Amino acid sequence: MSVRIHFLPDDVTVDAKVGEPLLEVARRAGVIIPTGCLMGSCYACTVELEDMDTVRACISAVPPGREKLTINLFSDPTW
Ligand code: FES
Repeated sequence: MSVRIHFLPDDVTVDAKVGEPLLEVARRAGVIIPTGCLMGSCYACTVELEDMDTVRACISAVPPGREKLTINLFSDPTW
């Protein structure tokens, strides 16, 4: 099952599979999610999922049960 992922604020859309790691989806979409530890402990990679809480992208995957998902990278890039 594929899920259409919409990244904000970049406004990029990409199709992903349920269970695909969010960092991988982002990389495929050309969206940079800042990361640090990649182990779920530094929160550098925190993003906000539509209708859901914030998640740490490095330990999160595309959730089942929806056709579309908006992922908001709320930290503004500083460059
Ligand atoms: S990179 Fe550290 S919590 Fe995800």
